[in-house]
Amino acid sequence: MNPTSNSAPQILQAADAAALQRGAELLRAGKLVAFPTETVYGLGGDATNDAAVAAIYAAKGRPQFNPLIIHVADMSALDALIIWDDRARILAQQFWPGPLTLVLPRAPTSNISLLASAGLDSLAVRIPAHSATQELLRLTGRPIAGPSANASGKLSPTTPMHVAQSLGDKVDLILAGGKTRVGVESTVLSLIGETPTILRPGGISREDIENLIGPVMEASAAVDETAPASPGMMASHYAPELPLRVNANEVAATEAWLGFGPEIGHRHCAAKLNLSERGDVDEAAANLFAMLRQLDRPGLTGIAVAPIPMHGLGLAINDRLRRAAVRP
Ligand code: TXA
Ligand code: MG
Repeated sequence: MNPTSNSAPQILQAADAAALQRGAELLRAGKLVAFPTETVYGLGGDATNDAAVAAIYAAKGRPQFNPLIIHVADMSALDALIIWDDRARILAQQFWPGPLTLVLPRAPTSNISLLASAGLDSLAVRIPAHSATQELLRLTGRPIAGPSANASGKLSPTTPMHVAQSLGDKVDLILAGGKTRVGVESTVLSLIGETPTILRPGGISREDIENLIGPVMEASAAVDETAPASPGMMASHYAPELPLRVNANEVAATEAWLGFGPEIGHRHCAAKLNLSERGDVDEAAANLFAMLRQLDRPGLTGIAVAPIPMHGLGLAINDRLRRAAVRP
């Protein structure tokens, strides 16, 4: 709150020093701040804070959890988050700051929210080329998860007014930094497999990448949210080793129980966690991937998951549970 004025703080502010300071404070407090980049505006939240990441998905109104890009100020900030390889270093030297996102293995020391990467063992990272946002990232001192700052299914925003129109009532601050220079999203390049794969074409061309690291593949199905979901594209999504039973009302003694809402009585089972005792779907989303991993232990026969209501982030939770329940 602005102590010198008794009106509500302005949502849309020019990204000057004071606004950047306020943005950093909001982010550190788990709030959402829209920020400019050279590609499109991002909807930022503290990537190490599960609740902040859940709030990003809720604000976008997405019926699915799509993994988010993690933004940092400089390469050293990535050392604790991802596992570098030679190709990544070469590309980073050449194109960062800039419109390239690299998907790399998540480091064991990474403190990034599992929800931000939708439970995957990889992380998508990039250093955006916008001086205001670089300053914001430095002031915040934390990696920032940032999907494009538009409501689900809408076009990515290239001006602060687009963000205000799409998400104005759902963010705590929109940092205005002009019209974005590139205007399309970053190229998403996965370095997880043998052959580098372009998961989403964007601001850096395939040729520019191939000139540096040799042949790359292009994923047949774009993983962009405006493209229709193709069945193959979900193959890499996280699923527990144990069989999953959704909409369960009871649990076997050899199963783990993942509850939701107040539990009445005692359940006899091998392990037990609750996504949200107060029955809050945002809290449940924040806990989902971390709790599934905690319960996914050898020796148990399965994980039984209580019914999750179909409103707000409940849709995305149910979508993910349904996918995880289908054995490949
Ligand atoms: O230009 C951009 O990239 C903008 C600005 C704000 O940085 N951000 C952006 O984020 O477009 P978003 O969330 O709308 O798109 C992220 C893309 C999605 O296609 C997602 O599937 C992919 O990156 N992605 C993120 N993490 C991934 C991962 N671990 N593995 C594979 N794909 C990933
Ligand atoms: Mg997007």
